[in-house]
Amino acid sequence: MKIINLGEDNSILNLFVSQLRDKDIQKDSMRFRRNLERIGEIFAYEISKTLNYSIKEVTTPLGIANCSVPTNKLVLSTILRAGLPLHNGFLNYFDNAQNAFVAAYRKYGKDNKFTIQIEYVSSPKLDGKTLVIADPMLATGSSLVLAYEKLCTLGEPEHTHIVCPIASKDSLAYLSKHLPHKKVTLWVAAVDEELTNKSYIVPGIGDAGDLAFGEKL
Ligand code: URA
Repeated sequence: MKIINLGEDNSILNLFVSQLRDKDIQKDSMRFRRNLERIGEIFAYEISKTLNYSIKEVTTPLGIANCSVPTNKLVLSTILRAGLPLHNGFLNYFDNAQNAFVAAYRKYGKDNKFTIQIEYVSSPKLDGKTLVIADPMLATGSSLVLAYEKLCTLGEPEHTHIVCPIASKDSLAYLSKHLPHKKVTLWVAAVDEELTNKSYIVPGIGDAGDLAFGEKL
């Protein structure tokens, strides 16, 4: 698995990530969602550079232009609910892509231990497609790996791009161990050092789903 950290180079991406983290700016949930969406757009642009292209003849009012256009069959997927604004950023650029959704949650037991429950998957066939899985936070990596495995029961993607703007150090090791194949690229914008005993990323941002959509029961 290849890991690309776009936050290592200076770009406007790092400003948007800093605003996601800022506990005062976070209070504006519309800005929080929009920043996730803008981050999705930046990752979509970077991923577009890895796609296959062919020349298409386009008729303009004055003649014929040879335009280079992507040919991959893209499926954009996300994990409900925190991933929705990031997913929307991808959809803003890859507007003809197919879409998939996975509903997953942490079921807590004793001592803050949890198992990941996947309740619902909605996806087209994935054989030969380019799959994007966008999820804002990669804490332990366990829900992401389960979502990937569940999606792959619906066909074998040609390549999978996993996009998690904020990741923990532990999760990179977990994904490298569980998804060693060459057909997966992990894209991040920041790698944070720690996890709390409830597996929240530190310094992280807090609960991305609650910040985007309000607290849940
Ligand atoms: N999910 C979140 O929203 N935040 C974390 O820190 C970890 C998982």
